[in-house]
This record gives sequence, structure tokens and C-alpha cells, in this order.
Amino acid sequence: MPHFAITGRLPLSGTVRASGSKNAALPMMAAALLAEEPLHLVRVPRLTDVRTMSRLLGRLGVDVARTGDGALDLTPVDPAPVLAPYRLLRQMRAGFCVLGPLLARRGRAVVSLPGGCHIGHRPVDLHLKGLAALGADLRLKRGYVVAEAKSLSEKGSDPLSQGGLTPFRIGSKRLQGARIELAGPRGPTVTGTANVLSAAVLARGETVITGAAREPEIVDLGRLLTRMGARIDGLGTSTLHIRGVDQLGGAAHEIIPDRIEAATLLIAAAITRGRATVTGVVPGQLTAVLDVLEAAGLHLDVGDGSVSLSAPRPLRPVQVTAEPYPGVPTDVQAQLTALCCLAPGTSTVRDTVFPERFLHVPELARLGAQIDRRGAGVEIEGVNHLTGAPVTASDLRASAALVLAALSARGTTTVHQIHHLDRGYERLDRKLAALGAGIERRRGFAPSVAGAYNVR
Ligand code: EPZ
Repeated sequence: MPHFAITGRLPLSGTVRASGSKNAALPMMAAALLAEEPLHLVRVPRLTDVRTMSRLLGRLGVDVARTGDGALDLTPVDPAPVLAPYRLLRQMRAGFCVLGPLLARRGRAVVSLPGGCHIGHRPVDLHLKGLAALGADLRLKRGYVVAEAKSLSEKGSDPLSQGGLTPFRIGSKRLQGARIELAGPRGPTVTGTANVLSAAVLARGETVITGAAREPEIVDLGRLLTRMGARIDGLGTSTLHIRGVDQLGGAAHEIIPDRIEAATLLIAAAITRGRATVTGVVPGQLTAVLDVLEAAGLHLDVGDGSVSLSAPRPLRPVQVTAEPYPGVPTDVQAQLTALCCLAPGTSTVRDTVFPERFLHVPELARLGAQIDRRGAGVEIEGVNHLTGAPVTASDLRASAALVLAALSARGTTTVHQIHHLDRGYERLDRKLAALGAGIERRRGFAPSVAGAYNVR
């Protein structure tokens, strides 16, 4: 089974460029379902999730092709298909973002519920609430959301009862603008905002979404939709004003950098007591993370499109709370938890977005970390070093945390189930190796543990 073999305690140094943002790219790819002409997306990272979304769009009548320079061309070729199957959505939850665009432009959709997730309870009730407010009729049927723009005159038969694709004609009517309070008890929903925003741009009349997500990935989606002809005000705030238009054209767009990857690379330099510069970033999107890193004793130089980090002094313990943007991203929580394991003293990490997102903790403990669960977070006693051991990844960001911890550990660590990492990081192993990390992707089985301890 593919795994990483990592030799720790090699201080990283050098310069690395961040890839385009996974969490911006995925809803933008879904937005191709809204367009009459092709989208040309630049800086789309080469990830498993992007390939899965490409396969899903292929089933929905959008051809997706990589151009020579690494961009993606998304060409709508068939407006009839409306079925997004479970076998694809269980691999990638973000596939649920096709629901809004399908409803908005084709009037109907049959989209699988996304299924379970390692980071905690992830309902889609807010997505459905927002789309229902826009005049969609939504029914749950055998694990699928069967959706129809209520304003459509004809009543098509349920595609599931026919066991497959039933081409629907796009109705002459469409969704109706509305005022929608979208946030839930845990705050805004990022992909929920993407789904409802992508539906509202083609709805009749005005839509106001309050409690919208403010993440840069949503702002970037809004910028793409605007380039396609949508009329949106308030991007970056929690209140979006949308005036519906009759149709959307194609557009070319460069995707924002992946701020989560950039943070991960900076923490890699920090945890190995090295120094690194990450280029191709928007430092203003990383402020909360940079504040934590400074509080932890790291030195940061912020340039126009780059951030440099060095580790001139011992780490200091910090108190971290993961929150919706512009707070510390929950997607960096696991990586910061790994860093805190090496800060002398007591650190605390809480996650208000996904309070259960701590599956990395038992694996970090295998490396010698001293971490205790405390309610919606953890309390960490820093140790002066970790020790290499076999560990297993459970989800995308937990995998990253284990890699970072392994980079600092004495001896060799093998990280298993690294397919989780490849879903959301574009060749992170190559980027880290280019900075001097002792990391190698291996195909075969890891060396026997029994041999290592001379036991049977
Ligand atoms: C997006 O997931 C990201 N994924 C996640 O990144 C990220 O962790 C998350 O936002 C929070 O920032 C993509 O953008 C593809 P949410 P999403 O809806 O949209 C609750 C990664 O590692 N909620 O913002 O699914 C939910 O349970 C991934 O790259 C509802 O209650 O997250 C959570 O507590 C992991 N009802 C909170 O809201 C809903 O209908 C925020 O979830 C939707 C969400």
C-alpha cells in the first residue's frame, strides 16, 4: 500500500510556491453547469478531488479537459443529465455543490446525499433550506435529494422510479429570488453558501442571503460568477445581494492560492526549526494563522505575494480556536495541534466548526505527543521531541498533521492511507522534499514492525 517514509529532524529551508485553492476550484467547476459557454480555469490544482469532480461533471454533460499549460477547460455539451450518483459523492462531499447549479439551469436535480465524514457530523440541511427558499421542491428518496424548481409547469416523473437518467427539458420558468438566513448554529456554511449563491444568480428577481460564508473561496466563486454575467454585491461580507439574470456566459478565471496549503507549508518550516518562503499567496487571507505562528515564537516576513518564516527561538505554547473566516481555519487546526506538541508548556486547541475534528490526536500520541481531549478541544503538554513510528491518516488535514509531526520526529515515521492527502494537496511530498525534507513516497508494504523489535 502506498505510504510515506519520513526521516525527521531535517530543518527545512528554501522557497516553494502554493498551488491553486482546492476549496475554490471545486465549486467553480460546479458553476460550469450554469454556463452556456466554456469556462477556462487557471491554476486548478492536480488533485484526486478535482479528478472526481471532473468525472461527476462528465456525467452531467460538461466536458472537462486539462490544457497544455495546466488550466482546465469546462465545456457544457449536454443540458439534459441531472443525476449525481452516490458512488462519486461518497468520495467527495463537495460534489453536493452541483445541486444549486443543476436546479437553477435545468430545473431539476437528483443528487446523492454526501455520506459520512471523518471530521464529524456534516449535515446539508442549510443547503436544502436555502434552495427551498428559492422555490425548489426537495424530497429525500433512498439517499438522494430529488429536487425540482416548483415554478416549473410540467411535472416530470421521478428519475429514480425509472432507474436512471430521464432527460428533462429545461422548463420555461425558473427559481424565484428570496430573502434567506443561511447560517446555522455552528455559523455559516461554506459549500452551502456556494450552492445557494450559484442557484440565486439565475433565479428570477432579487435574492438576499444573510449569514453567508465570508471565506476567500466564496469571494473567488462570486468573482467568477460575476465574470460570467451574474450580478452580486456584498462578496466577503455575510450579506450577499443577488439580482437574477436570464443566462450566464463563459469566462476565464485564475483561481486564488490555497491558503490552507500555504499554512501547512509554513508550519512544516516551523516544526523543523527551519526557514521557508511560500510564494504565490495572498497574505491577507492568512492573518489569523500568521498571528498564531507569531504568538508561538516564529518570525514572519510578509511580502506582497509571499510569506517567509524562520524559527529563531524556542516555540511558545499558544491557545488556538478554529472558527469561520476570518478566524483560524478549521482546516489548519490539525496542523497547529501538531506544532503545539513541541512547544514547551501547555497549549490548548479548540474547534468551534467541527468539534470532533481530532482523529489525528491518537496518531500523534503514537509519536509521543502528550495530548488530552478537553470538551470541544484538546490540551497539549509540549515535549522536547517526538519519536518516529507507523501512523495512519484518517482524513485530509489529519494526514497533513501526521506528516508535519513526522518531519520533526527522531528516526523514521511511516504514514499510511496517504490517499487522503492526495485528495487535497498537490504533491505535498515533492514540495516538502524540495525544501529539504526526508520524505519518500513508497508503493510497497512498510518494513515489518516485528523485525524492528526483533519479536514474532
Ligand atoms: C467546507 O466544507 C470545506 N470544504 C471544508 O474543508 C472546511 O473544513 C469547511 O468548509 C469549514 O471551513 C470545501 O470547501 C470543499 P460547512 P463544508 O458547511 O462547506 C455545519 C478540507 O479539508 N453545517 O462550512 O462542508 C457543519 O456541520 C475540507 O478542505 C450544518 O449544520 O463545511 C459545520 O459544523 C474539510 N448544516 C459547519 O456548519 C449544513 O447544511 C460548517 O460547515 C452545512 C453545514
